[in-house]
Amino acid sequence: MTADPAERPHLELAYVCVEVEDPDALGGFLTEVMGLVPGEPTTDGDVTWRNDDRAHRIVVRRGPANDVVAIGFAAPTGDGFAAAVDRLGAAGYDVVEGTPAERGARRVAALAHTVAPFGVRFELVQGLADAGTPFASPQVPGGFLTEGVGFGHVVVATTQFDEAHRFVTEGLGLAQTDWLATEIGPGIELEVRFFHGNPRHHSLAVARAPFELPQTLHHVMVEARDRDDVGRAFDRAWNADVVIANGLGLHDNDEMFSFYAVTPAGFQVEFGHGARVVGDDWRDDRRYDRISRWGHQPVPPR
Ligand SMILES: [Fe+2]
Repeated sequence: MTADPAERPHLELAYVCVEVEDPDALGGFLTEVMGLVPGEPTTDGDVTWRNDDRAHRIVVRRGPANDVVAIGFAAPTGDGFAAAVDRLGAAGYDVVEGTPAERGARRVAALAHTVAPFGVRFELVQGLADAGTPFASPQVPGGFLTEGVGFGHVVVATTQFDEAHRFVTEGLGLAQTDWLATEIGPGIELEVRFFHGNPRHHSLAVARAPFELPQTLHHVMVEARDRDDVGRAFDRAWNADVVIANGLGLHDNDEMFSFYAVTPAGFQVEFGHGARVVGDDWRDDRRYDRISRWGHQPVPPR
């Protein structure tokens, strides 16, 4: 049963937790190239980065996975959190209340978790704490767009595509914004579905993987407030000889102006600006047959 769109919850991407072999290398990339700033380590000893005044937005644990290990979505209020937990349980997913230690490590007031069909621990939270100092990045003077729309977006690839779609729409109550279905090479179909729980065009997108891929996490996206900060980030990536998966371009569906850089852990970061937003009156849930209006070409290794 599809929920009444009027009852759809407000949910934002709160944080993404990754396990990587070389946290120092990833940290250098996030700081020097992407312009995020270090947060305080967690009570678990994980290191963190942030792109706004919140305590952390990326939580990094040392380990072999080189992949996402947890995704946190935040409700803005206690009532919203309770409703989100109820919805997930009513849709048939096992929801476990977080322990005080887990809430402490994530710096949230409330936490419940389950395992998404794409194999990643999924955390519903409320009350993500502020950092001790305001956000300021020398590399990104304009800062990042997060107010009311969350950290950014996260894109995962899974062979459990249909079950993941049910989890996201019925379990989480996110609305599908639109979808992409196109042939990206001879006989190679790409299908991606985009979901929103706030004005950001998508906070989560799910790609259909043709077979088990080494990484579930394709990319996380951060959105700069100033278009020139995208160009400056591209210059830093270029000058640091970072692998640029896709150069500057404009996406057809969310109209994001962005580029994609490959992190030392293999997954990517999309650095963008200027995506369109969706409202409660969104009626443009349709198929797109191209990823980009222009640009986003693969950049050969230099
Ligand atoms: Fe993206």
